[in-house]
Amino acid sequence: MTSTAARPRILITRAIFAEVAHRLSEHFEVESNPDDADWGREEIARRLRDKAGALTFGLERIDAPLLAQCPALKICANMTVGYNNFDLDAMTAAGVLGTNAPDVLTETTADFGFALLMATARRVTESEHYLRAGKWTRWNYQMFSGAEVHGSTLGIIGMGRIGQAIARRAAWGFGMQVVYHNRSPLDAATEADCRASYLGKHELLKAADHVMLVVPYSASSHHTIGAAELALMKPSATLINIARGGVVDDAALALALREKRIAAAGLDVFEGEPRVHPDLLTVPNVVLTPHIASATAGTRRAMAMLAVDNLIGYLVHGKAVTPLNATGLAVRS
Ligand code: DGY
Repeated sequence: MTSTAARPRILITRAIFAEVAHRLSEHFEVESNPDDADWGREEIARRLRDKAGALTFGLERIDAPLLAQCPALKICANMTVGYNNFDLDAMTAAGVLGTNAPDVLTETTADFGFALLMATARRVTESEHYLRAGKWTRWNYQMFSGAEVHGSTLGIIGMGRIGQAIARRAAWGFGMQVVYHNRSPLDAATEADCRASYLGKHELLKAADHVMLVVPYSASSHHTIGAAELALMKPSATLINIARGGVVDDAALALALREKRIAAAGLDVFEGEPRVHPDLLTVPNVVLTPHIASATAGTRRAMAMLAVDNLIGYLVHGKAVTPLNATGLAVRS
């Protein structure tokens, strides 16, 4: 336990497990948000003014104007693997470390990617809505016939840890051919383990029966899938996005779904979420979930605890576990 006299102050910006806040309180003066109040940017900046660290949730934009208001800040620890809320250049220049929470959510998120693929290809939610609406009066041989998953070709865009975990499920469990596109090809041993082969993006889009997006969001991955890419996909294909909103042009996708230029989509993330493009809410051939790919109690706890490890590691022992910008970090007194 850190002595009370010298305890740094920490802000937890959203509600979190009681044991997470408790563990932080053994080392820090903690200001928490147990009611999950929707603090806006100004409020977060105000509350961060005297804080040395923040447990963040991938939602708070940490950039130069905010950092200028928070002279005591030394670390922002996201409990998410994604960190597109961080302007890392601005943080590095200001001497503020950013950390994320990789690895602990990989298998859980891959499970969900597969769940969304299965639900989309086999029209699970669309047929459930039909049944709940009392429309099921008799069986018919082609009622809600969907696309095969086993034995089909899966194209994965973004072959990091989660992409690889999805590839293993597809190849080893479902006998799928797996093709992938990534900034650079994987080494031969990892490709063999995933039974996956590298393709250019356009070739992948033409070849795949199902396309799964797992690429991190950045300026270069913005609208990885837009109208031109959707036009390359098979009319029978499905598109699954568990990456980030903004990786897909949602307006172009809604139009392609409405015009049946692709068969279906499964989306866990949205441009400008929690808002959802209104056209996506009215097309039937899309499965929509509210950014829950890593949402199991065990995994969310592990993600939060890794963020806690980063805060304690950096502020108490001088070394974070999963730093993003340790190199070249300006020194903050
Ligand atoms: C992540 O960890 O980045 C997931 O998208 C959960 O927000």
